[in-house]
Amino acid sequence: MQKKLYFGSNLKMYKNIHDTVEYLQDLVAYTKDISRDEIELFIIPSYTTLESATKNVDRTYVKLGAQNMCWEDEGQFTGEISPLMLKELGLDLVMIGHSERRHVFGETDMEENKKVKAALDHGFTTLLCIGETAEEKNYGISAEVLRTQLKVGFHDVPKTQIPNIWVAYEPVWSIGVNGTPATADYAEEMHKVIKQTLLEIFGSAGADIPVLYGGSVNPGNANDLIVQPSIDGLFTGRAAWQADKFDKLIRDAKKTFESL
Ligand code: PGA
Repeated sequence: MQKKLYFGSNLKMYKNIHDTVEYLQDLVAYTKDISRDEIELFIIPSYTTLESATKNVDRTYVKLGAQNMCWEDEGQFTGEISPLMLKELGLDLVMIGHSERRHVFGETDMEENKKVKAALDHGFTTLLCIGETAEEKNYGISAEVLRTQLKVGFHDVPKTQIPNIWVAYEPVWSIGVNGTPATADYAEEMHKVIKQTLLEIFGSAGADIPVLYGGSVNPGNANDLIVQPSIDGLFTGRAAWQADKFDKLIRDAKKTFESL
């Protein structure tokens, strides 16, 4: 069977409730005819939109996730969101360790590990984001950084959780308006390191974990990235925030992949 392709977007701190729901409904309408056996589509909007989104969007077609989560169920953690609160919304997935959480808000690998374990314990599909900075890349330690982020991030996570684990590789230097997209060759090289490390952590079943590329994915590079053997999907920011454009990017990438 052909491998399933993953397409998702993090809406970051953009789009109000109305615009998020409209975007999600449009995205479902545009992409409805694409078999969900062939693609997995997910969107990670802001917290305040999640309740309306879960009530107004058909999640057979699009999974919904949260951008971050506290590792504790409750307590004196002002400004944090508990896994129980996200469960109450019936969300499908939680993203942990996005580059902006690590580098703007100073989250550490150990904190990401606590969050990963809490998210998995509460039954969420857990998307761990990893990636090296430009400085680390220049020192030639990208592989070491990725291996560390994975080994600490998944420390003490049992193999039984593998079906609920996804990974996104997003080099910090490639993300956002000032980012330079990674070349397909470089992304593939890093994805190989990630896949190898997942095998070391989880044994042969680690091969089942999907690894997505993210960071300035756009219509000009999506097709070259998706055909790389170690890339299982695309995690797209800006280029996905208009439903019609994201639909086109998904269809083009899928068609290119199928023509291999
Ligand atoms: P970008 O964002 O595609 O806009 O670079 C990627 C991300 O932060 O996930």
